Amino acid sequence: MKHASGYFFAGMVLAAALLASSGLPARDLVTVNLTEWSPPDLAALGDDPYGRTVKYGHALVSDTANQIGPTVADPRRRFSGNNLACQNCHLRAGTQPYAMPLIGIWGQFPQYRGREGEVVTLEDRVNGCLERSMNGRPLPLGSPEMKAFLAYIKWLSTGVPDGAKLIGAGTMLIRDPARTADPRRGAAVYANNCSVCHGVDGAGQRAAQGAGYQFPPLWGADTYNNGAGMNRLLTAAAFTKHNMPFGTTFNSPVLTDDDAYDVAAYLISQRRPQKRDLAKDYPTRLQKPVDTGYGPHADAFSLEQHKFGPFEPIRARVKELAAASGTAHAGAPDHVSDETHRVK
Ligand code: HEC
Ligand code: HEC
Repeated sequence: MKHASGYFFAGMVLAAALLASSGLPARDLVTVNLTEWSPPDLAALGDDPYGRTVKYGHALVSDTANQIGPTVADPRRRFSGNNLACQNCHLRAGTQPYAMPLIGIWGQFPQYRGREGEVVTLEDRVNGCLERSMNGRPLPLGSPEMKAFLAYIKWLSTGVPDGAKLIGAGTMLIRDPARTADPRRGAAVYANNCSVCHGVDGAGQRAAQGAGYQFPPLWGADTYNNGAGMNRLLTAAAFTKHNMPFGTTFNSPVLTDDDAYDVAAYLISQRRPQKRDLAKDYPTRLQKPVDTGYGPHADAFSLEQHKFGPFEPIRARVKELAAASGTAHAGAPDHVSDETHRVK
């Protein structure tokens, strides 16, 4: 009897553990740690159609303005609306962990995204950054540029199994302070830590030659528009804390959470290009990240609070509304809403 109940009890614990892991017991997904991952070597690529396409993709990511920027000679190739480069944000040509790395992304699409309210392809995702972060227009699907972006991202993802859980993907969130972010305090953080490179006027510093920047602009006419992920406070704070001032990495942040929170508030308070039709984003309103600075929102909090926090009361309310309506992915930050591939 003693034995039997012992087994029974062990069985209960096991059953509970299985339930807790959502019914997928023995099939552990592969986890790839991008913070300890060496990307493949560009120099090892051949001078053949495949190698040339991947290298073109690398050029598009690292030298975007000179490839498809607003001043290139052929007007039909002006896809990017500003003179940023993809790697101004996707640092080191998309290889830096917690700077939205492009490694391993190949095997994560198609994926459902709240912003579009549908399953999107990797092509859609590239075009999303072109229309928002680059304030430009989408690339045609079969264009040499789209093929090159995809070839580069697939090549970068060499060795990462499809659907793997990724450590180091997206951004590393800050623990947001339980208060309204303060753009005035942020201005002081900016003056002390950022303006030496990005300029007091936020306009950055042009490259010595060609289009593009040595230090990219953070606001003004030649930068990302208000529909870009970087224009959300918690995304800007997460990116900044773990990557700026330039040279900072996720494991040696310079700014505190409070500094990152406030300097991000300062950045999102500035003027920048405006995207049309933003009200169409997030057709399922509860899936809108809590820090989305444009409406409509499913809750009754002010737009001001959605921009500058505090976010915890919004999260709590969104959670209630989501539970009542059975909505998945409610209020999640965009870069972790595709919960399939982020290890938090
Ligand atoms: C101003 C900063 C910025 C620039 C410039 C930028 N992106 Fe992004 N990108 C982001 C952010 C932030 C995300 C994370 C998701 C979000 O919050 O929108 C992202 C996400 C992505 C993703 C999905 C990554 C994932 O983990 O699923 C791809 C692919 C991508 N960008 C491609 C590009 C390409 C290609 C370019 C250049 C044409 C580009 N981006 C330029 C900020 C930028
Ligand atoms: C030493 C110079 C330097 C300092 C200081 C610095 N940055 Fe940057 N920042 C850069 C460079 C260079 C890039 C582009 C990286 C690349 O292309 O490799 C960048 C990129 C960025 C980006 C993404 C690109 C864009 O245009 O939005 C943001 C946001 C940003 N920095 C914010 C900040 C903030 C906030 C601070 C202060 C806390 C700061 N930076 C301090 C050099 C600097």
